Amino acid sequence: MDIRRRKCHRYGGLIFSLLILYIVVHYLLYPEWWWRSPALLHLKGENTTVILVWYWPFYMQIKQNPTVCNHYGIRDCLLVTDRAWFPHADFVVFHNRELVGGEEFLPIHLRRPREQRWVWLSLESPDHNGNLLWFSGFFNATMSYRRNADFYVPYGRLVPRTVRGLGVDDFIPKKKSALACWVVSNYMEEHRRTSVYQQLAAVVPVEVYGSGIGRPLSSEDLLPTISQCYFYLSFENSMHKDYITEKFWKNALLGGAVPVVLGPRREEYEAVVPKNAFIHVDDFDSVKKLGEFLLNLAKDKQRYASYFTWHLNYTVNRFNDWQEEFCKICPQAGSLPPQKVYDNAYLLEM
Ligand SMILES: *[C@@H]1O[C@H](CO)[C@@H](O)[C@H](O)[C@H]1NC(C)=O
Ligand SMILES: *[C@@H]1O[C@H](CO)[C@@H](O)[C@H](O)[C@H]1NC(C)=O
Ligand SMILES: *[C@@H]1O[C@H](CO)[C@@H](O)[C@H](O)[C@H]1NC(C)=O
Repeated sequence: MDIRRRKCHRYGGLIFSLLILYIVVHYLLYPEWWWRSPALLHLKGENTTVILVWYWPFYMQIKQNPTVCNHYGIRDCLLVTDRAWFPHADFVVFHNRELVGGEEFLPIHLRRPREQRWVWLSLESPDHNGNLLWFSGFFNATMSYRRNADFYVPYGRLVPRTVRGLGVDDFIPKKKSALACWVVSNYMEEHRRTSVYQQLAAVVPVEVYGSGIGRPLSSEDLLPTISQCYFYLSFENSMHKDYITEKFWKNALLGGAVPVVLGPRREEYEAVVPKNAFIHVDDFDSVKKLGEFLLNLAKDKQRYASYFTWHLNYTVNRFNDWQEEFCKICPQAGSLPPQKVYDNAYLLEM
């Protein structure tokens, strides 16, 4: 009898300590459960929009600075990551990859303020967004490279050039020694782009680089190497609406080679760049004809230069700053529909 009671006491003490430890750890890890007030709550004024990033995409290490949006000229906008802001946030942003990977969870255990919108964010094509089955009916806004997303985040865009007075020739790299180049990190026989490349390489010389094929290019060498090519194969790994990535914006356009694109339809490229800024694989009946066209174009200086005239009026702005994209939610907040809930079928298309 006595012994049993003592044992009970001992376990009771242990359980009590574990409980206290659990509560302390929980308080530290999940402040949103405890409704503790976030630091700097006083920064939120009557007209302030609060964007809460539930976790940084890819767990990037970005120093929290709630007033960072001022640096982009965006006022009345707080960008926060402390989850204690949850009850005060107008938008909560969730990057898809960590959700579908099971590393992060939607805070469905929390009472959600009525006006709060949850933002589904992904810059991946539908092929790489994973299984979205569980994410029906939670999100009120989308953030993606799709032009019809609520918050449009393209991989690149043309912006009007501020400094003018240059001629077309100033934009064409002088030393061109290769006809066509391609950098491929993931060489897969079953990709459509691989078959197009193989057919093209049978007609014209194509320089191929990439770690997958044993010819890696360092990031410093990437653009200088591409600048020596007349054409660059901006072949996307999968074909989806509006899916135009850095293979186009960075490698080709910033590299100073004319992009030969394989991706969405020509109209979708024309929605974001002038039609004479690129050559589309689908412009030709066969890859052989494309090859012959490239050979002739490289010899015709004037015609080749016509693919660079857009430089006279525009420069390329590449996506490179998540904070700025998040801040841009604020000025667009007012133009969202008052009520919107997306189902997973819709997100699967994004
Ligand atoms: C908030 O916006 C309203 C309407 O635009 C304006 O009348 C009011 O002065 C603003 N309040 C502050 C503190 O700026
Ligand atoms: C550039 O802009 C000027 C005027 O703004 C226009 O006349 C010209 O056609 C444009 N050039 C190209 C190549 O878009
Ligand atoms: C956001 O979605 C939730 C469903 O998860 C819905 O209850 C809420 O009304 C929506 N809010 C807005 C502002 O659309």
